[in-house]
Amino acid sequence: MDIAPFALERWFAEVEHDADIMLAESGIRSLPADRFDTDPGALDYVIPTNGDPELRDELAGRYDRTADEVLCTCGTQEANFLAFIALMDRDVHAVCVTPTYQSLHELPRSFGSVTTVDLTPPRWTLDVDAVADAIEPNTRLIVLNNPNNPTGRYHAEETVQALYDLAADADAYLLCDEVYRQLTADPLPPVASMGPHGLSTTSLTKAYGLAGVRFGWLVGDQEVVKRAWQWKDYTTISPSLFGQHVARQALGRREQAILRENRELVRDHHDRVADWVAAHGLSWHDPVGVNGFVTVPEGFRDGEAFCRAVVDEASIVLAPGNAFGFPGYFRIGFGLPTAELTEGLSRLDEFLGAGR
Ligand SMILES: Cc1ncc(COP(=O)(O)O)c(C=O)c1O
Repeated sequence: MDIAPFALERWFAEVEHDADIMLAESGIRSLPADRFDTDPGALDYVIPTNGDPELRDELAGRYDRTADEVLCTCGTQEANFLAFIALMDRDVHAVCVTPTYQSLHELPRSFGSVTTVDLTPPRWTLDVDAVADAIEPNTRLIVLNNPNNPTGRYHAEETVQALYDLAADADAYLLCDEVYRQLTADPLPPVASMGPHGLSTTSLTKAYGLAGVRFGWLVGDQEVVKRAWQWKDYTTISPSLFGQHVARQALGRREQAILRENRELVRDHHDRVADWVAAHGLSWHDPVGVNGFVTVPEGFRDGEAFCRAVVDEASIVLAPGNAFGFPGYFRIGFGLPTAELTEGLSRLDEFLGAGR
């Protein structure tokens, strides 16, 4: 079994440490730990290791599911990993909608086989017929990320329903990574609530600003969740106890206040970046969330050449579209604190104005 290098992580590893401003983070800025009680008591594993039953019960209610259909994990990354390893093997095929976060197609490719179906620029529309054509007799999974990283496209409920129906007809699952879902004030119903063929993964990372607590979950068919838990005994055993302690607070009474505060930041920053994109004659699909996928300015060979020049000359990290298979674009993340965003955009103005 082999896996391709994670292109975006390798890019960050090369440039992030020495740069002044990170304008490529895909989530909302992190909340300070002192907003939460951080004393979970004795530093044990979470017991039972699939997550506290009361918390799983509460999470299950959000999906019209039961506590046995929820597995608490170390972030969405682990939730996706466990779902893939639970469902895929050498003879199993998945259809993955791209561009997206690389693990959503690279892991299933590593465990089995994959056909990717690209969204169609410039609006990144999803061609449901192309997904239908890609389904094979051994297709067990259709994989979607909605809202989408890197394009910020939020596919409509009818489109998601059409994919769900394709999965159901093929006796497969639709797995939707919904880690950006709560960044919009008007989220669609999660896929795991659509019926037995829906699997949802998410976490507190991108919308709540709590990446460091490494707390996420997988929701769906009890047999899949059980199998994923079986694999989890060999990965991280249990979620983080600190993570679960903070998750309880973030998902409790103060949840709406956190989400309101974060969504206000999204709106404000979105408008600033939209003005910046327009001022430089660039284009993007107006994104949901804090990721925009922007066309590379004229005069640069591709996203990588542009992002390399920006980090060398302005000490700002952007994400090259090459890492997502679309070299004509770069991803800008605008969830960072406002002062850093303002400084970053003004440095980019200077960079682009310098005779280019
Ligand atoms: C679509 C998607 N899923 C999962 C992750 C990882 O999230 P987590 O911190 O919850 O593991 C990312 C991070 O960028 C992402 O973009």
